[in-house]
Amino acid sequence: MITRLRLKNFKNFADVELKLGPFTVILGTNASGKSNLRDAFRFLHGIGRGYSLSEIIGGKTGGGGQVEWERMRGAMREISRIQAETSDVSFDVTAKISGVNSIYRASIENFDGLFRFINEYFELDGREIFNFHQNVFWDSPAVSTIKDEIGRSFTIKNELKSMRFHEMDSATAKLASPPGQKVLGDRGENLPTVLQAICADPARKETLMEWVRALTPMDVVDFKFRSDLNGFIQLYLVESDGAEISAVSASDGTLRFLALLAALLGPNPAKLYFFEEIESGIHPARLHLLIDMLERQTAKSGIQVVTTTHSPELLSLLSDETLKSTSIVYRPPGRSDAIIKPVLDFPNIDKLRATQGLGRLHAAGWFEDILNATFDEEGDAE
Ligand SMILES: Nc1ncnc2c1ncn2[C@@H]1O[C@H](COP(=O)(O)OP(=O)(O)OP(=O)(O)O)[C@@H](O)[C@H]1O
Ligand SMILES: [Mg+2]
Repeated sequence: MITRLRLKNFKNFADVELKLGPFTVILGTNASGKSNLRDAFRFLHGIGRGYSLSEIIGGKTGGGGQVEWERMRGAMREISRIQAETSDVSFDVTAKISGVNSIYRASIENFDGLFRFINEYFELDGREIFNFHQNVFWDSPAVSTIKDEIGRSFTIKNELKSMRFHEMDSATAKLASPPGQKVLGDRGENLPTVLQAICADPARKETLMEWVRALTPMDVVDFKFRSDLNGFIQLYLVESDGAEISAVSASDGTLRFLALLAALLGPNPAKLYFFEEIESGIHPARLHLLIDMLERQTAKSGIQVVTTTHSPELLSLLSDETLKSTSIVYRPPGRSDAIIKPVLDFPNIDKLRATQGLGRLHAAGWFEDILNATFDEEGDAE
């Protein structure tokens, strides 16, 4: 599990640290930097997959012309913080794997949109495994080539390699999928065949149906999978009165929710999932089931989930454990860079949580007000 991410000079972060847990929640106003954090995880994922820096940032097209890796969001040279004195960027990740800590650091030079590593460092259980410096040009990450026998099963490479990023789109989730596709796409592609694969395993199917019954308003009791004229698999939802409705006619919220379940319960799960605005399309009254599911699944399966949110209701529903890994991204007035502050570090938070509820405080902008009061007009902490 990744326990900590520190970023220097990446996008709008000068020097920040994000604490992670099994379920990590990131709050913050528009343009505070939540999606920039997602981009940082994507960068690290590109490193884990062994792509060169120019591929990670500029995108990679496979032999058949298909997009294998989407380019980083934003302008290439703006990977580095615009107002910073240096354009070097660094990532520092700590993970705890089978009880052993490992640390991976990468510093990258951004020479006006041309990138190379300055340093790559990997430490396992307090021991340095490698520490490469810039005496040769290298733009392909060394960490992606470490053999498992060096770090045994403890390598951080696998944590970086095994990440998925989802922004579910109901129109995409409605589409029929080619038979046999078992990995859900970023926007919910292949939903029918991923659900089909889940349903082929009775234990997984039972878990899936439990959550589906609890969360869908129209009592979905089963799924049917039928080939269309092209041989693609179309999803049908069976309702409690026996009616079968094609996914094309199902509601947007239902599809987005099914896509979330498919991501978390599908075969060959990733180690870390990053969702943008997980509450999107879910009725507030059902949100507690979603949070319950995420907290239980992440606690029991070892899967890590990180999500951004704008939802006060969601914040109110988080368990004590999840609150430990809930943070606010915030840009002090008069400053262009953002800071990250764990929710539990705010004053009197336990008392306020009990008396007012964190959702109410969040909706009223209380977290930002407290932070505004701690920075002066130049943006310095008082
Ligand atoms: N290289 C950079 N240097 C400084 N600031 C940057 C850089 N790149 C992006 N930003 C800042 O990051 C902001 C966008 O942040 P991001 O997309 O993460 O917002 P967000 O918190 O996800 O917001 P929303 O809730 O609207 O999705 C931009 O408005 C810009 O101010
Ligand atoms: Mg965003």
